[in-house]
Amino acid sequence: MLFKKPESKVEVINDINRDLVTLYRCVKHHLPALVDQFRWMLVARDEFDRFMATPAETLTDIQRAARFYYLLRSSFGAKWAGATFGTAASAPPRLNLLRIEEDLSAAHLRLARVLIENRPYADILRRFDRSTTLFYLDPPYWGCEADYGRGLFTREDFTLLAGQLATLKGRFVLSLNDTPGVREVFRAFRIEAVTTRYSISAGRKAGEAPAKEVLITNFEPASKAA
Ligand SMILES: C[S@@+](CC[C@H](N)C(=O)[O-])C[C@H]1O[C@@H](n2cnc3c(N)ncnc32)[C@H](O)[C@@H]1O
Repeated sequence: MLFKKPESKVEVINDINRDLVTLYRCVKHHLPALVDQFRWMLVARDEFDRFMATPAETLTDIQRAARFYYLLRSSFGAKWAGATFGTAASAPPRLNLLRIEEDLSAAHLRLARVLIENRPYADILRRFDRSTTLFYLDPPYWGCEADYGRGLFTREDFTLLAGQLATLKGRFVLSLNDTPGVREVFRAFRIEAVTTRYSISAGRKAGEAPAKEVLITNFEPASKAA
């Protein structure tokens, strides 16, 4: 979302995942050194397995960022917990090592004035809440709470989050999957059903229904209000 939206005067991006945040920080502050890490790499299952077997704690921040980017871009559906090497008989690998510098340079420019945080969501909501703040929240889906690591986000967090969102001075947009549980927990807010296509299902078969999501807000979006 951040990489698609126009810049705002003050921007903060947060995630509890230390690998992801290290990647953002290295793209922002150490781009040439990070790009250099990919110079002698191959997109291959052996390389993928070697990275998977390397504990992140044994690496420098720049090595850690390169490992995470490699694994994320070459795993099936960019799934982090239990990632597997993704291949397709009908398309080239998603990770194009010849375009790394180009891809990461765009992110480097975009992140130049963005504050990067590595905190639990509740801290960020507390710390940055102002009447002028707009929070965009993209938590794990209902039913997929453990997809990004066990214990980081649980079913109970949806209820805690709803309680905290109700106290905000600022505005928020929360995207989730459209399930009865989500509609029940966030019933105090405005809920709009939308359809989307996940990149993982880019090759969606004819007749397969697009994914149903909800956008939950505490305000009426301008285009709807007009
Ligand atoms: C659906 S993903 C969204 C990722 C990001 N918006 C993106 O598009 O790359 C959910 C994210 O929530 C993060 N997360 C899980 N529990 C969290 C928590 N308690 N506080 C902050 N972030 C959390 C995960 O690490 C994961 O990256």
